[in-house]
Amino acid sequence: MSNQRPTTIIIFGASGDLTQRKLIPALYNSYLKKRLPNKLTIIGFARRPWDDAKFLEPLHSGVQEFSGTYDEDAWQQFAENIHYFKGNLDAPDDYARLGDYLDKMENGPSNRLYYLATAPEFYGPAATALGEAGMALVDENTGYRHLIIEKPFGHDLDSALALNQTIHKYWQEQQIYRIDHYLGKETAQNILFFRFANTIFEPLWNRNYIDYVQITVAESVDVGSRAGYYDESGVLRDMFQNHLMQLFTLVAMEPPAPFNAQTLRDEKVKVLSAARPIALDKTVRAQYDGYTKAEKVVPDSQTPTFAALQMHVDNWRWQGVPFYLRSGKALAKKHSEIAIVFKRPPVAMFGLANNLVSNILSILVQPDEGVHLSFEAKLPDSNQEMRTVELEFHYCDAFPDRTLPDAYERLLQDALNGDPSLFARSDEIVCAWRLIDPVLKGWQSADAPPMEQYAKGSWGPEAAFKLLTRNGHRWYVAEHQ
Ligand code: BG6
Repeated sequence: MSNQRPTTIIIFGASGDLTQRKLIPALYNSYLKKRLPNKLTIIGFARRPWDDAKFLEPLHSGVQEFSGTYDEDAWQQFAENIHYFKGNLDAPDDYARLGDYLDKMENGPSNRLYYLATAPEFYGPAATALGEAGMALVDENTGYRHLIIEKPFGHDLDSALALNQTIHKYWQEQQIYRIDHYLGKETAQNILFFRFANTIFEPLWNRNYIDYVQITVAESVDVGSRAGYYDESGVLRDMFQNHLMQLFTLVAMEPPAPFNAQTLRDEKVKVLSAARPIALDKTVRAQYDGYTKAEKVVPDSQTPTFAALQMHVDNWRWQGVPFYLRSGKALAKKHSEIAIVFKRPPVAMFGLANNLVSNILSILVQPDEGVHLSFEAKLPDSNQEMRTVELEFHYCDAFPDRTLPDAYERLLQDALNGDPSLFARSDEIVCAWRLIDPVLKGWQSADAPPMEQYAKGSWGPEAAFKLLTRNGHRWYVAEHQ
């Protein structure tokens, strides 16, 4: 932790789930690892008539349940610096009151990290209210003023553009940290290390050797208690515009040089810009059986809980290589994987028709994080029979003494340290929306593909399999041997 200036984190919407399940456990773990500023104060801003003790109750149980490292003494010490501030997100006076309270409490220069963990409709108003209260301004007598904004960033392209514009009125781009928690996952970060800290993969990472790429982000849970939110969003907004697009850019981007936050994000923007508009007939949308009967889902809802898309990147590296992306709720298991499927050998050397098998490199994003590489081996004591075998790396085997931190731990530390590398820049968000927005609109038009159904616990609708089989491809799911 480089910056040892006193720091205040102010969480707006602090009485919500995110604070209890993710933010406070992540900060508590960073505290245990001594990665927080020496003098850190956390202020929860919310409407409920709570005091500090009442605010701490759910946070305490959240740390017990989700930190994985609960220790009563450590919690008590950590909790001494957490306070509650009762305020209304749509009352500008409350921001001014908060400002006075912070000035008094900090009593001198102090960094501030504002975290908008609110409902999305408050992102713009809260950013503006903070600006109008003079709380975004930085000069030599203050510390930094950083603003973290949760997802979803916009509901479509226009609203994302408008939100960027609203926020930029008072905030410089370098003060803004748009969260996509997938970027905080170790395995997502490792894609860059895997590609650019090794020499053996990158020479193959192009259209000459790769047949197709697929990205699966499967969830076993259904929409559950989030049905109200979900029915307004659907899988494209909830998962594709952000998480899947981020994984896609990390796999497809060019090496940033020199490596820094700007070049990294420049390369991501370049690859998103080179992606071809997605053809509607290369998309599949589906709902799991029973979705429309769930509470808070409108009975004739057209909200997809599953989607599969075929994408292309029109640049030299990727011309002709399809990228298949799929994600859905209520699928067979929680499993996120990026599979790089290599071209088959050019010649069937061993006289067997079935020996033209693709090698597959699987990056297992979660939950059994690791990397698999499949290749062919001669079956011992056979004439010319082959079997597919796998080289496997799993974090749990290779690094048994290291627990994979929750994504929010790394992201909060980076925002505190002023490193925006793992946050989405405004143009990146806009480019991702430029790809997804036409699909959202197309799915409301007469050319929309039919809304497919799939059984809960399956791998999605038949149409998603056909999307690949018509190109002679197939979905792949690696198993830990
Ligand atoms: C969130 C989505 O952004 O990501 C949720 O809103 C989804 O619907 C979640 O369940 C998945 O995150 P993870 O880390 O569990 O893969």
